[in-house]
This record gives sequence, structure tokens and C-alpha cells, in this order.
Amino acid sequence: MANAVIILGAGLGTRMNSDLPKVLHPIAGAPMLVHAMQAAMVLDPARRLVVAGYEAAQVEKAALAHDPDVTVVVQAEQLGTGHAVAQAQAALADFVGDALVLYGDTPFIRPDTLEAMMEARQTHDIVVLGFEVEDPARYGRLILTDGQLDRIVEYKDATEAERAVTLCNSGVIAADAATLFDLVAAIGNDNAAGEYYLTDIIAIARARGLTATVVECAEAETLGINSRFELAQAEALFQNGARMTALDDGVTLIAPETVYFAYDTVIGRDAVIEPNVVFGPGVTVESGATIRAFSHLEGCHVSRGAIVGPYARLRPGAELAENTRVGNFVEVKNAVIAEGAKVNHLSYIGDADIGPRSNIGAGTITCNYDGVSKHHTTIGADVFIGSNTMLVAPVSVGDAAMTASGSVITRDVPAGDLAVARARQDNKTGFAVRLFDKLRAQKAKGQ
Ligand code: UD1
Ligand code: MG
Repeated sequence: MANAVIILGAGLGTRMNSDLPKVLHPIAGAPMLVHAMQAAMVLDPARRLVVAGYEAAQVEKAALAHDPDVTVVVQAEQLGTGHAVAQAQAALADFVGDALVLYGDTPFIRPDTLEAMMEARQTHDIVVLGFEVEDPARYGRLILTDGQLDRIVEYKDATEAERAVTLCNSGVIAADAATLFDLVAAIGNDNAAGEYYLTDIIAIARARGLTATVVECAEAETLGINSRFELAQAEALFQNGARMTALDDGVTLIAPETVYFAYDTVIGRDAVIEPNVVFGPGVTVESGATIRAFSHLEGCHVSRGAIVGPYARLRPGAELAENTRVGNFVEVKNAVIAEGAKVNHLSYIGDADIGPRSNIGAGTITCNYDGVSKHHTTIGADVFIGSNTMLVAPVSVGDAAMTASGSVITRDVPAGDLAVARARQDNKTGFAVRLFDKLRAQKAKGQ
């Protein structure tokens, strides 16, 4: 049967104290909304909806950037979670199947938890995801009788006896879509908050003779983020998980607590990651590559046997082939470095192709920007670029060519040639001795 997912993200998130909508605050380089959207993908949902409200245009842009097929509906006024779900009804008018409601500020639901909920849907009309917690604080409480979920009571509306219940509502709910919208239409707002509570659908469903049950998960999975402190906690939780996953996958992390991953970092078995490495979004590192200490990588690919760093910066579009070397204080952007090529020291390689086995000397710069446009540098195979060469793009250097150290290369260098583009050296015999004498004499006279 087809599934639809509805992600609620209309809230302002007052406690974040931010102009950015809460669901767009990033965890591991991706908005928390994207984490929630990604979590739902295990159900292979045919229809995916996000309910936006506060700064809806920004939320829509971020949602579409991650998933161009997502439908964003706007909840103009935030009248409660039940009202938010109702906003999705029109967009799902033609949909037949199950709907799963998730929160955009609850990014860590595990795939197998959602699968367990869909499994429970086989035998119950409504499935709610709950969790046991020692101090349930202000969460909604799940009230059960004989294993059947009877109702959910919000903290504000709960009696002392109900507040003593430690089984809490995560907010995640699954039901047949048509049933869900029927129930939501029957919700009122006669409660302590004056809101349309989605949680009220349980009591309404039970009164109509429908069944409801609870699937339980760990509290950490349902961690809701409401403040900067909770955001930082969520980041730490994500990073710890990512480090454990990398170690389990056979990656060596010498000091795991100093390595930061993005939500989508992929690292192969037997890769070695030294201390203090930061992965931004879009990085893949193949088996057996080494990322040395204090390197920063983003939007790049590092192949087998490559060694990066220490202190290297790989920016979007950096493609390192097998057995390449990118050393200290080297920045690479939108450039392909072919097999066995080396850029070992103090260089900027941007908008370039470097052929196999070529060696780029220390201090080489591809001058890719003229103040208006970017231009490309092409370097062939087995080239030797002398130290401190400026390659003023667009420019190309043919196979097995050389540039003399300190050259400013403004014209193409044919294959096999040596390009020398610097002032010729002139040694003035004995001049240094005479100049030193003169300078010292001036100093002695106090001049
Ligand atoms: C909700 C649940 C509570 C549960 C808790 C878990 C209700 C009534 N209560 O409470 O039982 O224990 O989550 O964290 O559902 N949202 C909208 N539009 C609105 C209101 C909310 O889109 O009009 C979105 C928010 O952006 C957020 C989510 O729904 O992503 C949850 O809203 P929030 O106000 O945080 O609900 P809680 O009071 O935490
Ligand atoms: Mg909340």
C-alpha cells in the first residue's frame, strides 16, 4: 500500500531566539527538517508533504532543495498540531493509503522504528509512537487500558494522576489518510492552550470504535529541539552516533571525539581519519585513503590510497583520484587531480584539471578569477610545475612540460616544452660587499 508522510514545521520556535525558522537550523550541515524528511524515506512514501508557516518561503526553498517532489502547504496561523495536519488534506484529496505524521523538529527517528509502526498498522487503525522517560516533563501522556491506547492528554490539561504516567507521546502518528483527516476534522480547541490538538484524534477514534496502539522507541530518537541548547545537544548526539557508525564500518578514527561528520558523509573501510578533521556536506572518502590532521573537506571525493593534509582544505568539486597527494596548506576547489598527481605544499588549485603523475611545486596558484569571471587551467600528464608558478587562466600546460620556478604563465605551454616566464638573473660582482659597507657606515654616523 502507498504511504504519504506529513511533516509539521510551521512553528516559529520562539525559544530558539532566532530569525531563522526552527526547522531550518542545521544539524551536521543539514536543516533539521531535512533529517526528518530523510528519516521518512525508509517508507518509500509516494507523497511527501511539509506544513510550513513561519517564514514559509524559506522553509519551502529548503524542502524543495532536498526533494524537488515534496509538496509544501502553508498553515497561515499556527492553531495547533491538529490544525496543521488538516492543511495537508486538500493536497492529499486523491491519495489512498496510509499517512504518517512527523515533526520537523524531531530529526532522529530511526528507520526501523517507522517500519515497526507500519507493521503495527496491520492490526490497528491508529499507531502512535511513544517513549518511556523518568522525568516526562511537559510531554503529552499516553493513557492505555489493557494494551489499547485510549487517549492522549496534554501536560497542561492532565490531572495529577495522569501526570504521573511516564509513557509519553512523541508526536509521530500513523493512520489511513482518509481516516486521519476525518478524525482531524472533528477536533475542537476547548483545552488549556486553546489549540487544535492532533492528540485528540485518539479519544475521538476510540469513541467511534476504532483501535489504537503504541509502538515504543528510545527517548533519544524522539528528541525534540526547542532551544539552542537542545540544538547543541542534538548535534553532539548526531556526532557521537556518526563516530560509532564510522568505527563499526571499519574506519580508523584516532581521536573520534575530534572528528566532525556531516549528515551525508561516506567513508570507506580502512580509511584513516586523523584528529581534528571536519567533514562538510557531500564528502565521499574511499577505502584506504588517509585524511591527516586539521583538514577541512566539503563537497569532494577522495579516492583509494590518496593522502590529504595535514591542514588541507578540499572545497566543492575537488576530485582526488587514486594515490594522489594534497599536502599542507593546500586548497583545492572544483578541480580534478588525476591518479598519482601531487600538490604537496602551500597551493591554490581552483577550476583546474591536473593530469596523472604531474607534480605541482610549492606555492603554485591557479589564478582562476579576473574579478568578473572564473577561468580554467588544464595541466597534462607527467608535468612538472616549478615552485611559485602563477598559472593565469585560461591556460593549459601540455603533457610532460615544465614551468620554471617563479614563472607567471599567461600563454599555453606546448607538450614537452619548458616555459620560463620571469626576469633573467643578473649577478653584480662584489656589489653586496660594497653595499653592506656603505649601509654600516651610514648606520655608524647615525644617519
Ligand atoms: C506535541 C504534542 C505532545 C508531544 C510533544 C512531543 C500535541 C498537541 N502535543 O507538543 O503530546 O508530547 O509534541 O514533542 O500535538 N506545529 C505546526 N503548527 C502548529 C503547531 C505546531 O506546524 O500550529 C508543528 C511545530 O512546528 C512542531 C510540531 O508541530 O514541529 C510540534 O509542535 P509543538 O508546539 O512543539 O508541540 P508540543 O507542545 O511540543
Ligand atoms: Mg515541541
